[in-house]
Amino acid sequence: MHAGDGLVCLRFETMKVVSALAAVRHLLAEGTVRPGDTLLDSSSGIYAYALALAAHRFGLRCHIVGSTTVDHTLRTQLAVLGARLEQMEPSSDLKLDQDRRVRRVRELLRENPDYHWMRQYHDDIHYRGYLATAELIERELDLDRLTVVGGVGSGASTGALARFLRERSSSVELAGVQPFGSITFGCEHVHDPEIIIAGIGSSIPFGNVSHELYDAIHWIGFEAALAGSVDLLRRHAVFAGLSTGAGYLAARWERDREPDRTVLFIAADTGHRYVDSVFARHDEARRVEDFDPHDVSTMEELALPWSRMHWGRASAPPAAIFT
Ligand SMILES: Cc1ncc(COP(=O)(O)O)c(C=O)c1O
Repeated sequence: MHAGDGLVCLRFETMKVVSALAAVRHLLAEGTVRPGDTLLDSSSGIYAYALALAAHRFGLRCHIVGSTTVDHTLRTQLAVLGARLEQMEPSSDLKLDQDRRVRRVRELLRENPDYHWMRQYHDDIHYRGYLATAELIERELDLDRLTVVGGVGSGASTGALARFLRERSSSVELAGVQPFGSITFGCEHVHDPEIIIAGIGSSIPFGNVSHELYDAIHWIGFEAALAGSVDLLRRHAVFAGLSTGAGYLAARWERDREPDRTVLFIAADTGHRYVDSVFARHDEARRVEDFDPHDVSTMEELALPWSRMHWGRASAPPAAIFT
């Protein structure tokens, strides 16, 4: 969808369907998984739904160890699709929540030999599905002056798009979006008092993040992401989630910095999950024009509500190296 003036929104209802379908198709084709087996993973939301859809499509079972961000709607969808959900106790500590989910996954694997752990955060089969998306982008846009902007959770969507698009044009640039507090690009020391943005950022290292692919990183706090989400609906009639609102803010800035390039930003989900926490608060939203990122060159300078760093395709900071 063209948002006008050099901005293009790559809109998904549930982005990870693209990734999960291709991953499961590949596992079946190579015989790692057989019909009747159970696909297992830990998820905070849209991957759970995507995996349940893929399992349904290919006649497999699905077991999700979910975080507290799995809401009533998703719980209901999973139940009707026949997926099993185990939801962890609420925890205000993200690291504790992630560690606990991984422990539970390991327990389930020991007890159930026919379970396959999808490892969406680490297994690069999750890159494969984005090839078709890259081909679509290639047909629609001039890759020689394209910048891609997207939230980084597992890193699969932005990483795969950059990799596949750069095989077609080495000029493609990539900017990642992070919440404050995420270790992935070294921001664990800055705390966002509101909330983290569901689906992006992490408190543990992820194998699927290829740090060397990113030209720039934007760290965006809740208040700025809220302003972006509300503006995107108000100005462009696109109803999408908080990571999209943050991506939109970053994309506008990248577009203004280099107006001759087209900036494509990823909308990974719809706004439904954020009706109360974001859209009902539209009166509080500040104007997007009032935000400007701190242009930082060291981690010590990172500050709310928004910071941008020229990452320069650098490698992972020590705490984010996956072993
Ligand atoms: C809403 C939302 N946006 C962005 C992302 C980031 O996608 P990826 O895991 O491909 O980095 C996710 C991941 O779960 C998400 O849920």
